[in-house]
Amino acid sequence: MSMENAAWHSLWRMSGDKGKAYADTTPRRVLSFAASYKNRLLVFVLFSVFSAVLAVITPVLAGRVVDAIVAQTGVQVVLKLAGIIAIVAVADAVVSLVVRWYSSRLGEGIIFDLRTAVFDHVQKMPVAFFTRTRTGALVSRLNNDVIGAQSAFAGTLSGLVSNTVALLLTAGVMFSTSWQVTALALVLLPIFLLPARHFGKSIALLRRESADLNASMGTQMTERFSAPGATLIKLFGRPAEESAQFGLRAGRVRDIGVKMAMRQFFFVAMLTLVAALALALVYGLGGVYAMRGELAAGDVVVLGMLLTRLYAPLTALANARVEITSALVSFDRVFEILDLEPLIHDAPDARVLDAGPVSVKFTNVSFAYPSAEKVSLASLEDVSVLDTRGGETVLHGIDFEIPAGSTVALVGSSGAGKSTIASLLARLYDVDSGSVQLAGVDIRKLKLDSLRSTVSMVTQDGHLFHETIGSNLRLAKPEASDAEIWQALERARLEPTISALPDGLDTVVGERGYRLSGGERQRMTIARLLLAAPQVVILDEATAALDSANEAAVQAALAEALENRTALVIAHRLSTIRSADLILVIEDGRVAERGTHAELMAVRGRYAELHDTQFAQ
Ligand SMILES: Nc1ncnc2c1ncn2[C@@H]1O[C@H](COP(=O)(O)OP(=O)(O)O)[C@@H](O)[C@H]1O
Ligand SMILES: [Mg+2]
Repeated sequence: MSMENAAWHSLWRMSGDKGKAYADTTPRRVLSFAASYKNRLLVFVLFSVFSAVLAVITPVLAGRVVDAIVAQTGVQVVLKLAGIIAIVAVADAVVSLVVRWYSSRLGEGIIFDLRTAVFDHVQKMPVAFFTRTRTGALVSRLNNDVIGAQSAFAGTLSGLVSNTVALLLTAGVMFSTSWQVTALALVLLPIFLLPARHFGKSIALLRRESADLNASMGTQMTERFSAPGATLIKLFGRPAEESAQFGLRAGRVRDIGVKMAMRQFFFVAMLTLVAALALALVYGLGGVYAMRGELAAGDVVVLGMLLTRLYAPLTALANARVEITSALVSFDRVFEILDLEPLIHDAPDARVLDAGPVSVKFTNVSFAYPSAEKVSLASLEDVSVLDTRGGETVLHGIDFEIPAGSTVALVGSSGAGKSTIASLLARLYDVDSGSVQLAGVDIRKLKLDSLRSTVSMVTQDGHLFHETIGSNLRLAKPEASDAEIWQALERARLEPTISALPDGLDTVVGERGYRLSGGERQRMTIARLLLAAPQVVILDEATAALDSANEAAVQAALAEALENRTALVIAHRLSTIRSADLILVIEDGRVAERGTHAELMAVRGRYAELHDTQFAQ
């Protein structure tokens, strides 16, 4: 399938399974969410009602002014009425300020609450979640959907009450002024209100599709516009096809935007037209009644002015359905994320590890990577159905112990399960059976904070944030002084490089540390490790990316970092392995051989084979 075909296919699929715009339970959840804003909502609604009452008073007073003029009752009366109109206007301004203040506090408060909740929650998700989800899609939830959810709340939900009150009040006063004229003026209305239901659903579906498309454009941008992604596209990619794919999505968003705008506008335009026609009716019919003396001239003015105020809340209420449905879509997308259960969290009775040396013990550990539906959401992965495979056991009955202060090395072919063992020790995942213990305590019984400060891992890629060198290192120890940082850099054999930089520790390293070489990045992670000074160190092929000139420096730095620490080392280099207290050969998720270098060489098994092929110079 060509790339363009694939894109069409996914578009088609996206619009295909659109039975429902949101889950059945979402409205109830939104209401219970609203309950926490009860007081602010209440004040807001009260003032809105007050404002609706003020809006009816002016037209009635205007009618009385006309009556006073017609009846020639005197200047006093007219001036008094005008004075009251002025007071009402001032009161209206004050009330509208209060309403605005409450509605913006409400709206921004909701954005704040939803955003921080989603951010907190996403942070707790396991690594497996991040390996599956696409960053752009996730960021879009935090931006677009949170704002979408808020707009309904502050605008629509609260407007519902005040508009209903305004509508009832206005209609009430109109009917009591002249029920015949009012009835006639409203007779056209139902024809235009009926399609609202249909409009609401179709607009909500369009909005959901457009949110999905925006998210996938976000994903494409964040992935392609990172330094490594952009490099890859330049070297291997086909920029024209990338653009075509992006254009396809952007084009669909454009079309949806036009469609939505037209549908909404058509609706509003129709209502405006009905209002204008009704006004003609009021003046025509009301005028005839007034000439016949059946209606006061002032009442014609009252009816005309009220009619124009009647259609504003009517339009708002008719639109409310559309807006509430789209907001529910946004809420739904936010709740979807909050509902994901973080697989790894503190047990209720979790404890802190005592200070002092720490031993490591794996007892009969078996493990399978969690399947997709446990850790992820189809809508964040850009697929319509989650890959339900996975769950294949990659580790079988792993048993070994690292006494405090000693080093165990893992060797074996690629894909054997070495990195998986390392991730289990760092509790990036939980074992399926058996246990991992630190100083005799099951790591599932430890507080995550305590675990993080005890166990530290250096991996091959040595990720750096787009921040200064200082703050990248302080990740390991926020309170570290500059002197401590320089000391760590020196021990990581990085001090000459960094001090030669014009900004020193304040130098910003590019996305993924692009301006540092592979070896320098590697030594940055070692400096980080030295700062953290954990009791247990995991090195996962920490030296694999280095050339031999760099390697000597890094090896020396590592040797220092491992001194007096409990270490699990996965290495390609013979020198690291040879000095280990115990070597485990991992094959197909099992411990195939174990022993010291000399012992394993003597048995002439798998280790000797690896030694002769892989490690031989
Ligand atoms: N995040 C993951 N999700 C699913 N399977 C994985 C994941 N990471 C590794 N695997 C699988 O687990 C097995 C062991 O991988 P790994 O521990 O990375 O091997 P090694 O580090 O020894 O090369 C491999 O079959 C690999 O495909
Ligand atoms: Mg590995």
